[in-house]
Amino acid sequence: MQVNFSDTIPSDARLVAHIADKEKMPGGLEAALEQGAKTARFKGNAGQLFEGFVERGGNVVRVAVAGAGSANADRRSNNLEKAGGALAAKYLTSGEPAIALDFSGSGLDAAGAASVMLGLRLRSWRHDAYRTKLKDEQKVSLKNITAVGAPDGTENAWTDAVSVAEGVEFTKDLVAEPANTLFPISFVELCEDKFAGTGAELIVLDDAQMEKLGMGSLLGVGLGSEQPSRILAIKWDGGKDGEKPTAFVGKGVTFDTGGISLKPGPGMGDMKFDMGGSAAVVGAMLAMVKRKAKANLVGVVGLVENMPDGRAMRPGDVVTSMSGQTIEVLNTDAEGRLVLADVLHWTQVEFEPKQIVDFATLTGAMIITLGSEYGGVFSNDDALADNLLAAGTTSGDKLWRLPISPAYDKLINSPIADMQNIGPRGAGSITAAQFLKRFIINDTPWAHCDIAGTVWADKPGATWGKGATGYGARLIDNFVRENVEG
Ligand code: BES
Ligand code: MN
Ligand code: ZN
Repeated sequence: MQVNFSDTIPSDARLVAHIADKEKMPGGLEAALEQGAKTARFKGNAGQLFEGFVERGGNVVRVAVAGAGSANADRRSNNLEKAGGALAAKYLTSGEPAIALDFSGSGLDAAGAASVMLGLRLRSWRHDAYRTKLKDEQKVSLKNITAVGAPDGTENAWTDAVSVAEGVEFTKDLVAEPANTLFPISFVELCEDKFAGTGAELIVLDDAQMEKLGMGSLLGVGLGSEQPSRILAIKWDGGKDGEKPTAFVGKGVTFDTGGISLKPGPGMGDMKFDMGGSAAVVGAMLAMVKRKAKANLVGVVGLVENMPDGRAMRPGDVVTSMSGQTIEVLNTDAEGRLVLADVLHWTQVEFEPKQIVDFATLTGAMIITLGSEYGGVFSNDDALADNLLAAGTTSGDKLWRLPISPAYDKLINSPIADMQNIGPRGAGSITAAQFLKRFIINDTPWAHCDIAGTVWADKPGATWGKGATGYGARLIDNFVRENVEG
C-alpha cells in the first residue's frame, strides 16, 4: 500500500472517502449525498459504510462515507480503525486502484487520521502467494492512498503506525504459512531476513546447544520430527544501559499433530497456527525495533514440530527439563508447556528479565472458556496482569484474567516425577498455567497469555479477513508503550 499526502483532492481522483461521526456528517458533502445517506439509514456507526456517485468538476466521482462512531466514544482509535478497515474491505478488490481519504472537515487530529489509515492498511493484508488461479476481479486493485488535508503531525503518526503495521503483517504472514514451508529453521531464516540491519541482535540455539543446556523437555517434543528444533532470541537494547529487560516468550510449535497421542483428523490442519504465540512475539519485536522503542526488550521463541514417529516420546516417558525438574509426559499432545518450560527457564537464566510474559496457543479448553473474543491471562503479579488487561483494551487484542492457585497446582503432581504434563479433565487451561508457573524462578513477575482462540478467525474482523488475525503483536507493543517506555 503506497501512501502519500496532499492538500487537495487529486483532480483525477475517482474514489474519495470521508469519515463521519455518529453526531455529524463530514463537512462539504453534496446535498444528494447527505440525502442518500439518510435514506440508506447511514448513522455513522463504527464500520458502517455509505456510497454514492456525484459529479465533481465534470467527472463522476465515487464517494464513500465511513462511520467512526461517536466522537466522544471510549477507545475512539479502535472505531477509527474500523472505519478504515471497512473502506479496505469494500474497495480492496473493487477495481479501484486508488482512494483519496479526505480528512478536511473530519475534525480528526493526527493520531485519529493515522488510525483510519492503519485500519485500512491492516484490513488489506492477504496471503495470495499460493493462489495461482485468481480471476482478475478477485485480485487486489487498491494500491494507493492519498491522505488529503490531514491534520499537522499525521505524517509522523503514520510513520509510527507503519512500524506497527509491519509487525502485525509479519505475525499474520507467519501464522498463515503452512507447515511444509514454515518449520523451525525456516522460521529463524525469515526472522533473520526481517531483522537484518535493524540493530536488533538475534541469538539462535540449535539441537546440540540445547542438548548441552539440558533442555530435555523442549527436545523431547521434537524427537518425533525430521525437523530440527530451534530457540530464537531477539534482543533490543533501546532503553537505559544496565536496565533489566522485559521478556516476551512465545510457543512456536510449527505443527502439532499431537505426537503419539495423535489428534483426530478433522481440523488437524488448524495446527499450523500452533506457532501463533511465537508469531505474536516476533511481530511485536519487529514493530518495536522498527519504531526504535525506548526500552530494553527480548523476545524468545521455542520452535519445534510435534510429530509421531519411531523415535517420538511415548505417553509415560519422563523427561528432565533444563531447570532440573522432571516431567512425566502422560499426553504428548500437551507439548506446548513442555516447550515453554525450557524456554522460560533459559530466558530467565540468560537475560535476567524484570518481568516475563508468555504467549501460547496452549489449550483447546481456552476456546471452550472464552471463544475467540478474548485471550486468557494468568499471572503471579496483579500489577502486571492489570497492565496487560489495559493494553488488551487499548490495542483491541482483548484479554480476560483467570485464576491460578496452589489447589490447582496440586493437580499436576506425578507419582513418579516432579510433575506430570496434564491434570484431570477440568480447568485444563489453569492446570497448564500452573505447569508453566513451576518454571518461574524467585517469583519473577510473570504472566501467561493463552491465545488458542484468538490467532485464527473463521470470519472477518475489523482489521483482518478470514484467517490470521495478527493477535498479540499490538497487545505487546501497547503494553511496552504504556508501561516500559518513557
Ligand atoms: N495446540 C494445542 C491447543 C489448541 C487446540 C490450540 C485447538 C488451538 C486450537 C495444544 O498443544 C493441545 O493439544 N492441548 C491439549 C492439552 C490436553 C492434551 C491436556 C488440548 O487442549 O486438548
Ligand atoms: Mn498439542
Ligand atoms: Zn500445541
